[in-house]
Amino acid sequence: MSRRKFIAGNWKMNNTNEEAIKLVSDLLEKVKNVTDKDIIVAPTFTTLSDVNKVLKSTNIKLAAQNMYFASSGAFTGQISTDMLKSVGCEYVILGHSECRTIFLETDELINKKVKAAIEAGLKPILCIGETLEEREKGITNDIVNNQTKKGYDGLSEEMAKNVILAYEPVWAIGTGKTATPQDADTVHKTIRQTLESIYSKNFAENTIIIYGGSMNENNADDLLNMPNIDGGLIGGAALVAEKFARIINYIAK
Ligand code: PGA
Repeated sequence: MSRRKFIAGNWKMNNTNEEAIKLVSDLLEKVKNVTDKDIIVAPTFTTLSDVNKVLKSTNIKLAAQNMYFASSGAFTGQISTDMLKSVGCEYVILGHSECRTIFLETDELINKKVKAAIEAGLKPILCIGETLEEREKGITNDIVNNQTKKGYDGLSEEMAKNVILAYEPVWAIGTGKTATPQDADTVHKTIRQTLESIYSKNFAENTIIIYGGSMNENNADDLLNMPNIDGGLIGGAALVAEKFARIINYIAK
């Protein structure tokens, strides 16, 4: 079994158009020799089009940070799959904990988005993870397994192959606190068992499960060395080209 390493930068609500173009241009310069790995950036909606122009024919792929499941219509403020594809997106982050907690997105809504994304030919990066309170109560596994099951609900194995899972403990996001490599690996293993129970061993073994939550240029090596951690979803450290490139160049070694 060999899963490809997958490193995605989630820029969140950062960067004007000019700043986004500069960041991605600086990054390209630093990772231009990395060819056989999945490198993804997720800028804001407003900068996707221009970032896509910079990324054309390069080794970095584009993701959106969210989308809506309907194809068009009276949904003020929302973005459809066709709109994302028309500006070069291949991936879309769904179910990020900030969308779950601040914008009250439910597992049901996220599942509809996952289905719509796959049907449109986009690959969802589906985020799951427990809060600090849930971890302290000892129910981390229940939470992530439940979110996994609900996220994949109704997906055939063929459809589900398009999903990349991101385990992001909520207490580690943007806080500087990281799960230890061993703790993260244990949760990834549990998630793999859940996937096996829904689909098959082969499916579970081939699913890319990445870690997110204060991953940076100093701790990435140890996390990415773990057998069940296939990459990273990186927020803060992805906003600095040198730091993000350092993480990418580690997996390229
Ligand atoms: P962080 O964010 O790296 O800043 O913790 C990760 C994420 O939310 O995807």
